[in-house]
Amino acid sequence: MNAQDLLQEISDYCRQTGLAESTFGRRAVNDGKLASRLRHGGRITTETLDRIRSFMATNRSLDGAMRPLVVERAHRPMPLPAPTGAPMPIKSDDPTRNFRFFDNRQKYLLFVNTCSEKWVIAHRVSLELANIHPRPPAVRLFDAGVGDGTVLARVMRAMHDRYPTVPFYVVGKEISLEDIRLALQKMADRFFEHPGTVLVLTNLAYADAPWLAVKSMTAAKSLVWHELPLTGNSSHQFEAQITELEPFLADNWKAGVNPKTGNPAFERPVVLVIYRADHKFLLDPILPKPGGTTANYDLVIASQPYRARAPLEFKSKRVIAPLARALGPGGRLIAIHSHGNDPGLEIIRRIWPNDNPFTTDRHQIMRAVKQELGPAGRELNFNAYADNRALFRYDMHTLPSEISESIGTSTVLAAWNAAIYVAQVEDDRLSGVVADGRYIDATREVLREHGGLWFYDESFVISRRRE
Ligand SMILES: C[S@@+](CC[C@H](N)C(=O)[O-])C[C@H]1O[C@@H](n2cnc3c(N)ncnc32)[C@H](O)[C@@H]1O
Repeated sequence: MNAQDLLQEISDYCRQTGLAESTFGRRAVNDGKLASRLRHGGRITTETLDRIRSFMATNRSLDGAMRPLVVERAHRPMPLPAPTGAPMPIKSDDPTRNFRFFDNRQKYLLFVNTCSEKWVIAHRVSLELANIHPRPPAVRLFDAGVGDGTVLARVMRAMHDRYPTVPFYVVGKEISLEDIRLALQKMADRFFEHPGTVLVLTNLAYADAPWLAVKSMTAAKSLVWHELPLTGNSSHQFEAQITELEPFLADNWKAGVNPKTGNPAFERPVVLVIYRADHKFLLDPILPKPGGTTANYDLVIASQPYRARAPLEFKSKRVIAPLARALGPGGRLIAIHSHGNDPGLEIIRRIWPNDNPFTTDRHQIMRAVKQELGPAGRELNFNAYADNRALFRYDMHTLPSEISESIGTSTVLAAWNAAIYVAQVEDDRLSGVVADGRYIDATREVLREHGGLWFYDESFVISRRRE
């Protein structure tokens, strides 16, 4: 077979599936420049040809395209057929069904509302906008864990400020239904201020979410693809239509615990695509199509994407490496996790003197990611930076009068909550210490000694070289 025929085959396949040629090359044979090399007379071995062929064959469904079986385009949610091949059937009386996220939901909500972390993270992430090199037709952003949406909404505001007239393709991964609801509440204004926005929310895993394609055939069969073209032109109207998604979300955004790994897992994979109907023409080139799309992100946010005590291999192989693969040329991934060495950890150590929740630092994670990526890592830069740039501080919001001789109980409780949340202390360890009130004294002492409470986060950046 000559190169022209093969190129034609690749280009037909890419058109059919919505993949960019560089993504095709990267995913099929780990070579983003495959097509351009062939175009310029490059030769390939028969082994590479076999890999290309087998990639195309495996990633096609029976009717010729990579396509999920359930595709919904209804404006109003339609009742769904029972999933045919959910990855992990969970019975409705199973106590793990619809469990509340992150050990205790209230801890998370109290933390995000009493500490400045998510604002500070959004500020740090937004600084990266000065270093990216978006190409037409859109600025591409991936948020690898939307949470309550504070970080995403703030970064989108900063993006609008820098690129007021450029279309945005924004994909957020989030498995928790309650977080999706909180994040969606913050989005109506984004569509008003920046009409050229395509917002995609999905519960897919790290290795699949950037491409909006599920690798497992069984899970792909139950994929729900839902589009919401917003009508009208006020944030009030957009908010009303987003709120109408509630029953759809309640029906579909269900999660449980994977019995093997203990990690959260979706009951059925969902992709939700929201954009303004009056901008559909303009947004057409960036609207993702069912069956997978290009990743090629300009910016990837990985804010607190793993539990601090998770093994290094999980953090590097399952979380950061797939996100690094999803970067486009000149793209940047910024990862942020808790660092310790702060008054928050001092509170924890007064109760559990030997506790060490923060087991891996940025250097270890980046080394492991580099190893995991192998030759593909050569296109990436791993930026650890010096501590004065990589570490940043955030505080518990307190009024100047709050930290005085007599610190109010609610301030102490909010501080204790923040300390145990950040240190990710499991509920069963807590019951003993809250019974005797020692924790109140320990927290009050630390607040008084430092005149407040603060924490350090650690960040690192992985960037892809420009083509
Ligand atoms: C809740 S989400 C993170 C969502 C979103 N990216 C954010 O930053 O809010 C997933 C993980 O966040 C962790 N998490 C969020 N903020 C944290 C913090 N400040 N310190 C420690 N863990 C945190 C939880 O352990 C959980 O496993």
